[in-house]
Amino acid sequence: MEPEVFSFQSLEQGSKAAAKFIANEVEDIVRSHGLASIVLTGGRTPRILYEYLAAQPFKDSFSWQKTHFFWGDERCVPKKHPDSNYALAYETLLSKLDLPDKNIHRMPADLATVNEGAAQYETTIRDFFNQKAALSLNDERCEIEGFDLVLLGMGEDGHIASLFPGEKTLLEENRWVAPVESDKGSPPLPRLSLTLPIINRSRCVLFLISGARKIEVMQSILAGPEEASRWYPAAMVKPKGRLIWFAAE
Ligand code: 6PG
Repeated sequence: MEPEVFSFQSLEQGSKAAAKFIANEVEDIVRSHGLASIVLTGGRTPRILYEYLAAQPFKDSFSWQKTHFFWGDERCVPKKHPDSNYALAYETLLSKLDLPDKNIHRMPADLATVNEGAAQYETTIRDFFNQKAALSLNDERCEIEGFDLVLLGMGEDGHIASLFPGEKTLLEENRWVAPVESDKGSPPLPRLSLTLPIINRSRCVLFLISGARKIEVMQSILAGPEEASRWYPAAMVKPKGRLIWFAAE
């Protein structure tokens, strides 16, 4: 599918539009499939979006009861640490929704080793897909193994989640969750990250980016994704379903 691009004059406007899109998408998915799965992003950009989703009119949607939340990546810090992507989403959004705890699937980036955390989270994802398949009509099973909606930010170097330019994690073809020892992140911490194989199985990937440099990277990707994928991991995001960019100035 061709990428869909929507431009906004401010992150405030882009976040408001993204909240509306996500809320409507989740409602449609829950109505059609019974359960929805969303992958949240970290970083600074999504904060306003999460605050919009945690407020009226989206806050009281019944669809949240049937929505499962995952993360695209996590820094190896305690879950209440200010650098934790879980803490960002929990404090601004998840703690404000009427949501069963079992629907929140935190990335265990605080286990003894990052390898252990990656293996455990992959099991969590596979178990969820298996449960969802068991609930679905047979003819849907083949397409279940993929998240319904993956929300991604992007670094100015074109990284997504914790998949950084030039890192071997970009070449991962089998594991769905990878340990990341790179110091290219900000903050430069060990991390866990979803990999491209699982991201690209998604029904929909929604990028939310802000700033001239990121828009420049996006335009370079749209103009020539193959060439751009030599430099920018974001160019390697080619979901089974929709690829949408919400770009704010
Ligand atoms: C992380 C994020 C990361 C983020 C980009 C953009 O853990 O750092 O998941 O991939 O989306 O770095 O971050 P900003 O939104 O802060 O620019």
